[in-house]
Amino acid sequence: MTRFRVANSQELGSTRSVRRAFRWSLRLALLVCTVVGGLLISVPRALAQSAAKPVILISVMDGEGHPLAGVTIEGRSGSTLLCKAVTDVHGVATLIACGSAGGLRLSANLEGYVPATISIPLQDREGVSPGTLDRQDQIPVLADLDGRLDISWPNTVALAALAEEMEFEALVPVARWHGFGGATNPQGPGFEAYTWAAGIAASTSKPGVFATSHISLNHPIIAAKQSTVIDHISGGRYTLNIVTGWNQPEIDMFGTVMMSHQDRYACAEEWLAIIKRLWTEDESFDHEGRFYKITKGYLQPKPIQSPHPAVMNAGASERGRHFATKYSDLVFTVIRTGGLDEVRAHVQAYHKLAREEYGREIRVWTVANVVQGETEKEARDFYRYYVHEKGDWQAAKNMIDVFSAEINARDIPPERLKAYQEAFIAGWGGFPLIGTKEQIVDGLRDLSRAGLDGILLVWPRFEQGMREFRDVTYPLVRQAGLREFG
Ligand SMILES: Cc1cc2nc3c(=O)[nH]c(=O)nc-3n(C[C@H](O)[C@H](O)[C@H](O)COP(=O)(O)O)c2cc1C
Repeated sequence: MTRFRVANSQELGSTRSVRRAFRWSLRLALLVCTVVGGLLISVPRALAQSAAKPVILISVMDGEGHPLAGVTIEGRSGSTLLCKAVTDVHGVATLIACGSAGGLRLSANLEGYVPATISIPLQDREGVSPGTLDRQDQIPVLADLDGRLDISWPNTVALAALAEEMEFEALVPVARWHGFGGATNPQGPGFEAYTWAAGIAASTSKPGVFATSHISLNHPIIAAKQSTVIDHISGGRYTLNIVTGWNQPEIDMFGTVMMSHQDRYACAEEWLAIIKRLWTEDESFDHEGRFYKITKGYLQPKPIQSPHPAVMNAGASERGRHFATKYSDLVFTVIRTGGLDEVRAHVQAYHKLAREEYGREIRVWTVANVVQGETEKEARDFYRYYVHEKGDWQAAKNMIDVFSAEINARDIPPERLKAYQEAFIAGWGGFPLIGTKEQIVDGLRDLSRAGLDGILLVWPRFEQGMREFRDVTYPLVRQAGLREFG
């Protein structure tokens, strides 16, 4: 069974996309450091050789058990420096992509901190588990339902804390500038994604933190710089989620012109290439392309993650799928219906494209909405209530009108419009998981078996749903072997 590994996936192809979000199933060593400036730790060869490019999570404490920030940990194979990280305020450093056929030796600069305790939990790559994600989202459904969250920072932090409590791997924001009208104006109120990510990075210590960025609304230099700040604040837990934009009223709001679908992806390629150069190149560079002119492009400091943070994209059209599989480490996709075989085929199609066209390994995540009841009937009755009695069908239609007009000119046949509206009202088109807690867990297991690496969860009553999930569902998720933490 494919186990879910989410957001901070540790083995995302060419970029090193790790984050501390991982819990490690194998505790390898607990050492007392007696060496100043050169603590050496060996990492098992099998792990170091792993194609998975392991992520190593290290925590450093002083003799009294207080976390030590600012300790530099370096991983070498022979004299070659493979990875390097600095411990954050929690005393934790994440070493990314330290794989080496020759084994790995770690060193730490511990001057002034002797004795110190260093623990290195390592993750056996088969031993990890389901990823459940949370997402900053003020209204998970398009419905006039009680229990909707007000957009306030305390609420946002409370959700992040809940996610952290359950050891979720990532917190992913929606990038939205304009709501969808109707009676409830879904996704109208909401925080800006980069600043949200910076605040969340500072408020959490373990989950991966994403910013979702519209290419045309965020200049690549600013996107690279802001991303770097968040990577530093989070101690290397950051991932950049790239969206090309499709919401015409949003683009109008900025007074700019919506590019054609093809051009949006051409622009995204140039945008990302500039960002990666800024993240990785020490020398200033000039760039003159179709969309951007950069003179003496410069960025310091570099992100903590080396060579750079991971990238996510949700391209769904043919052009979008090529972009996603060629450039991103994580592909986000919507899977609305279908049996296990269809879901598996959908996921495999992304892997096939990534491998055959671009020689890359990717992770595939999806979204699921959890509607849980004491009985299946109760869950289905509640679904009927919030979708059919309380649903904002006008807002859903507005959204679909904008989406289908802009996304690859995909016309939605009128007979399917209602089904699309329902899907968006129910949970943003996410895979429906409706039933008892056992059925929810079965559904997650099925998605895992179908090859998905991570699931972003939403609930109709977000916070209440999350709390219920923590209290009654999550223990079963763990029992099912979908999450195995050391
Ligand atoms: C799970 C998921 C989350 C997305 N989040 C956003 C978002 O926050 N903002 C946005 O403008 N587009 C978002 N999108 C839209 C995608 O970026 C993309 O435009 C869409 O999947 C259509 O793909 P295409 O551009 O290849 O046609 C999201 C898509 C998915 C599947």
